[in-house]
Amino acid sequence: MTSASAAALNLDGYTDLPPGKIATIVTYLEMRKPPVLPSLRPPEGWSLQRIDHDRARYRSLFRIVGEPWLWFSRAMMPDDRLAAILDDPKVEAYALHDGTGDVGLLELDFRTDDEVELAFLGLVPGFIGKGAGRFLMNEAIRRAFARPTQRFFVHTCTLDSPSAIAFYMRSGFTPYRRAIEVADDPRLFGFLPREAAPHIPLLVPQT
Ligand SMILES: CC(C)(COP(=O)(O)OP(=O)(O)OC[C@H]1O[C@@H](n2cnc3c(N)ncnc32)[C@H](O)[C@@H]1OP(=O)(O)O)[C@@H](O)C(=O)NCCC(=O)NCCS
Repeated sequence: MTSASAAALNLDGYTDLPPGKIATIVTYLEMRKPPVLPSLRPPEGWSLQRIDHDRARYRSLFRIVGEPWLWFSRAMMPDDRLAAILDDPKVEAYALHDGTGDVGLLELDFRTDDEVELAFLGLVPGFIGKGAGRFLMNEAIRRAFARPTQRFFVHTCTLDSPSAIAFYMRSGFTPYRRAIEVADDPRLFGFLPREAAPHIPLLVPQT
């Protein structure tokens, strides 16, 4: 993989990236008290199932949910580092199961006192836009504020679904910070298939 580049970030214009790199704009959002949640009855047969300790199931669900959006963090993470996170009792990973299979991923991180991070929330393709996101979000908010939480926060980036920010703001989150993230394109290193995330086209480095 390419090492850190010396290219300076232009804070008033464009910055060319070295070959093999992707860049995203990250938006951080937070809520400091829970909104009034509409009661939502999940369809018959749906359940949230803890999957922290089933690494194969977690990795498979993460891949199916995240591949269309180029989610690379956990896809590139070695097993021992992933285990160190998921084995922590203050991290909770859930699969949304519709009675036949896993259709959504929710991960909550309680490792910092008084704060909860919505680490991952996503649905498998085919379940987006049908109410499952609202169900997962309500469950996330309920669990986050069931403890003495001062702040529930999340970040989303321009690789993610374009509807994610509006969905988070409708859910009660307020945006408060923006960052640029530059990373190796995971498709060039075999962590994700080259066809993943066509909305971020793969630039094949010239030799
Ligand atoms: C972000 C994400 C989870 C949002 O989920 P979603 O499926 O778009 O959201 P929903 O369909 O549940 O909610 C959208 C709206 O449609 C409504 N809706 C649509 N069809 C519905 C149905 N059949 N029954 C009930 N509500 C329905 C929901 O109630 C909701 O309305 P509201 O926000 O006013 O309450 C989803 O877009 C996703 O997984 N994206 C890919 C991964 C990603 O980008 N994740 C975020 C990264 S941080």
